[in-house]
Amino acid sequence: EKGEYRHFMEKEIHEQPDSVQHTLSAYLDLVAQKVKPQDAIDLTKVSRIQIVACGTAFYAGEIARYAFERLAGVPCDVEIASEFRYRSPALTPGTLVVAVSQSGETADTLASLTWCKAQGFDTAAVVNVHTSSMAREAAAMWPTWAGPEIGVASTKAFTAQVAALLSLALAAGVARGRVAPDEEARLVKALFEAPRLIAETLQADDDLKAVAHDLSKASDVLFLGRGVMYPLAMEGALKLKEISYIHAEGYAAGELKHGPIALVDEETPVIALAPMDEVFEKTASNLQEVAARGGPVVMITAKGAPSPHGAAVRRVEIPACDPFIAPLVYAVPVQLLAYYTAVEKGTDVDQPRNLAKSVTVE
Ligand code: M6R
Repeated sequence: EKGEYRHFMEKEIHEQPDSVQHTLSAYLDLVAQKVKPQDAIDLTKVSRIQIVACGTAFYAGEIARYAFERLAGVPCDVEIASEFRYRSPALTPGTLVVAVSQSGETADTLASLTWCKAQGFDTAAVVNVHTSSMAREAAAMWPTWAGPEIGVASTKAFTAQVAALLSLALAAGVARGRVAPDEEARLVKALFEAPRLIAETLQADDDLKAVAHDLSKASDVLFLGRGVMYPLAMEGALKLKEISYIHAEGYAAGELKHGPIALVDEETPVIALAPMDEVFEKTASNLQEVAARGGPVVMITAKGAPSPHGAAVRRVEIPACDPFIAPLVYAVPVQLLAYYTAVEKGTDVDQPRNLAKSVTVE
């Protein structure tokens, strides 16, 4: 039931403090400030990780790649399942194949998993439906605890996937001796800050409503981000396309000058995801380039973060957070922007045209 909410999507966006908390608790011990042991897969023996997924789950995988490589030093590849399964991938021995899926039934992801298992690779499935085909097929099941997701546009399943995968990357870093106990404690605490920061971000949504009002009149929107904000920018563009039918693209901010900046004009809003992280200054200078060409820039950033020098940007401020959990917190404004824009346009938010919740055909 939707309760006080107009749409399941809105309800599910607002459930994220709980669903993220629940998912983190499955992998991390807040009292001991430690990761919980992962017995199903020996993370010390994994030489490479291959993530396969579709749509939003693919972007969760892309976000996880940064964490697996940085924290655990494990090379990590992420591929769209419909491409992976048909190109005879040359996986090296010791590769762990991780399928990421809300439903656990997506045909291409399931087929990729089955193929890898038949080749003798270790497999794991990050799934929200714990009785699904992928849950049964994979050697290890890594659950997300988002609860049933009804809206076709994935929201709480996405943040639960990110929460699980960041926790697993931390577990891999600890198991492999690359994350010391004090750093482990710091990152566990940082992750458990996410539910509160998500809740705070959900409350301060007036600016986002105002931006959505303007977005609803646009025919093209660009999302920009660097580092983990790059896959989140693509997720933001996907969400906007899916439910508001506005054409949107997500780009790596540094890629702008290699082509997409030609699209910038006064009619094309540019949404920048700019947390206070080590690449903030680089993103800010890309925004100067956009503003100098007359593009309307909306900068989603932390309270207290500077604005790009000399550039007219509209700011949407959210609580400051540890860069490690920024994908969890910044997912919220990205989802709300798409949601409010769709509401403004009057589209069928929970059942967007041409889309099914679960794609079980090829
Ligand atoms: O059930 P899955 O996570 O495997 O589904 C994958 C995609 O079909 C799904 O994420 C889709 O992109 C959503 N509609 C995105 O909002």
